[in-house]
Amino acid sequence: MLRFGLIGWPVKHSLSPPMHGAAFQACGLDATYELIETPPSEIPATVRHLQTQGFRGWNATVPHKAAMAAIVDQADPVARAANSVNTVVVSDGQLTGYSTDGYGLEEALRAAFALVVPGSSIGFIGAGGAARACCMHFANRGVRKLVIANRTLESAISLLGDIQAFQSGLLGSACSLADTHALQAALADVDVVIQATSVGLHAHDPSPVPAECLPKGIPVMDMIYRRTQFLHAAASCGAPIADGQSMLLYQGARSFELWTGREAPVDVMRRALEIALANQ
Ligand code: ATR
Repeated sequence: MLRFGLIGWPVKHSLSPPMHGAAFQACGLDATYELIETPPSEIPATVRHLQTQGFRGWNATVPHKAAMAAIVDQADPVARAANSVNTVVVSDGQLTGYSTDGYGLEEALRAAFALVVPGSSIGFIGAGGAARACCMHFANRGVRKLVIANRTLESAISLLGDIQAFQSGLLGSACSLADTHALQAALADVDVVIQATSVGLHAHDPSPVPAECLPKGIPVMDMIYRRTQFLHAAASCGAPIADGQSMLLYQGARSFELWTGREAPVDVMRRALEIALANQ
């Protein structure tokens, strides 16, 4: 029996167990995906426990992605630059960390809008951990330009500096969400806008951006996997929209491939995710 799981705090509402369970079953793998609720202070002890229990790998979710980056023996360059590990592979007692969130977002953009990341100009609302992981992946994939708009301007400037240190020559701009003129100008030539703040996790959260600041007709995606106020506002202005469900799907598909070395059964995983979401 192969054991995998998800370390988070909290994790009980996660949709990953049915998604990975369906993938293991479809591939005929005798494997489990377990929820491992872990407070921040217990991360090192939990990781040691999983190793002694013979786990082959695990996912880490909020708030543990940075802690996991500090614990692994080695990490891929994007995970290192983002200081974010959401997938750990155990091999010969060594822990290797990866960040599959950016891959998930890239594939979701391709599926929803036929958008190709290399050469594109991409706007992010937010400069927290989620934006950082995806920006570093996009920088590594040859994005042309990144625009980072955030409530706290200093965090947007700091993230942009870190991205340009990782990938020199990348075009970029940072602006404050409160400065609507600067925001409109900065987003004017992007190919897509990504909502990457935590605003919208609660059903009644307002949109973090006035819809009139979004460029007309440009697709928008929210990393949150339901119809947020941000998406409602964008749709009412005629923008093509997509929620974060398919980002969740593709980041999971990549984790599956890293753990098993097999192609992920994406259609099976999507169906399991849809059923789990409908039952939530
Ligand atoms: P993380 O731990 O991933 O960094 P976070 O601290 O919850 O997550 O913040 C994620 C993002 O949501 C940040 O861009 C944050 O903006 P600030 O840098 O200004 O804190 C953004 N965010 C959180 N609450 C917000 C709000 N009410 N309005 C706008 N942005 C918000």
